[in-house]
Amino acid sequence: MPTIPAATVDAIITDPPYSSGGMMRGDRAQSTTAKYVQSTSHRRGTEFTGDNRDQRAFHLWSTLWISEALRTMRPGGIIGMFTDWRQLPTTTDALQLGGAVWRGIIPWHKPNGRRTQGRPANNCEFFVWGTNGPRELADGETLDGFWQQNAPRDRVHQTQKPVALLEWLTRVCPPGGTILDPFAGSGTTLLAAKNTGRHAIGIELTAHYCQTTVDRLADQPIALDLAGADT
Ligand SMILES: C[S@@+](CC[C@H](N)C(=O)[O-])C[C@H]1O[C@@H](n2cnc3c(N)ncnc32)[C@H](O)[C@@H]1O
Repeated sequence: MPTIPAATVDAIITDPPYSSGGMMRGDRAQSTTAKYVQSTSHRRGTEFTGDNRDQRAFHLWSTLWISEALRTMRPGGIIGMFTDWRQLPTTTDALQLGGAVWRGIIPWHKPNGRRTQGRPANNCEFFVWGTNGPRELADGETLDGFWQQNAPRDRVHQTQKPVALLEWLTRVCPPGGTILDPFAGSGTTLLAAKNTGRHAIGIELTAHYCQTTVDRLADQPIALDLAGADT
């Protein structure tokens, strides 16, 4: 991200590692497979990195990356990130500490999400969003404040988001503008940007998912040289 010139992207849409999956430090330290893949599923997928911070570290780290991401975005642009119910309060705090103006929360309701007998289901994730300072009221189109869709069944990433949800969110970026996703995973935001006529910059630390992103975006196979990659 430090190599991206200041005030050059139009929107930031991302899905950082939540460091969630439980209330205790021991819960969070589990593998991403144990936390995010249902035990009955045969599709385990590849582990991803950066998901084991305790609450204090998650808060400070979120503030740091949000602050650096805002540097890359033009004044008035929209920044938004996914989170779950456990990390929602920390995420809205970090958004503001990182320097954005907090503007709202879009629930993403998954009707077929996991249920527990005798209590309400936690079958929503949340897109927390804000702006890089003031935003002109006429800057862009109106969007509804709610999305309903099941999580994709055939996933290539353990926490993959639906393409249609990301295509809808790209409308916060003007057509032809540039979206930054600093935690690209399998590239769902980048694919949505491509499908809706936006440019996109993706950053991903897990080498396997860099290749997955390229495979999803490419019309023909492109092999990345990831020999020197850390993870
Ligand atoms: C929640 S997943 C994103 C999934 C994505 N929305 C999708 O649909 O495939 C977060 C991703 O961030 C990556 N990651 C973790 N720490 C990172 C860092 N410091 N820089 C870049 N990517 C990182 C992980 O490897 C993981 O793939």
